[in-house]
Amino acid sequence: MFKSTSTQASASDPNLKSKQQAAEAVFAYLEPWIDRHTVLGIGTGSTTNCFIELLSNLKGKFQGAVASSQATEAQLKAKGIETLDLNTTGTLPFYIDGADEFDPHLNLIKGGGGALTREKIVAACSDQFLCIVDQSKRVDVLGTFPLPIEVIPMARSYVGRQIVQLNGDPALREGFLSDNGNPIIDIHHLSISTPLDWEQRLNNIPGVVSVGLFAHRGADKIFMSTASGVEVLERPQFT
Ligand code: 5RP
Repeated sequence: MFKSTSTQASASDPNLKSKQQAAEAVFAYLEPWIDRHTVLGIGTGSTTNCFIELLSNLKGKFQGAVASSQATEAQLKAKGIETLDLNTTGTLPFYIDGADEFDPHLNLIKGGGGALTREKIVAACSDQFLCIVDQSKRVDVLGTFPLPIEVIPMARSYVGRQIVQLNGDPALREGFLSDNGNPIIDIHHLSISTPLDWEQRLNNIPGVVSVGLFAHRGADKIFMSTASGVEVLERPQFT
């Protein structure tokens, strides 16, 4: 079984420049807020890895970071950034992470890298969720990207059957276990026009650990890189 890994930023990634641009924009936004007491929450994925590269320039000027995955923890440590246990930090001022899809209300699908549960926990413990994406992640309605859910191993088939009843098309992520030792089911062919309802409905299935829909706690700001620069989108107040 493979463990959860981040999607590494690679030089052959056609979106690498866009991801770097988004990371640079969030870094510029954050820099004035960072002092020696600051602890940041850090997500998982290739866009977040671009941000970690930049963050390493501030090494020693802030306290450290809480990682949302083992892969991110290794990445932070490799850059000389101290990693902290969320149980010791209290609420974090900022959580910085990418997304697989976002809609106009800044609801997200996350978990393409399989780190959704820890991502959700760190996001929940943070005052502001700053999401960094390239324009390709924008959709009108979530669901083209298969929705990941993490499940307790013995509930895998049961959860799959419940998803079929909801007209979803579940596929076990083969050869993969999360950092928590659990399988991931990717739900294909959903059209998630009511993300709050879907998140609640799927969360209520016994055996579901977490759902990669970030609607109850969506992004507060999205830094989206486009051909003409980075746009900052704000979550509408009533969603
Ligand atoms: C990992 C995630 C990532 O944020 C998401 O998959 C986006 O990754 P990338 O920045 O590589 O496109 O949710 O679980």
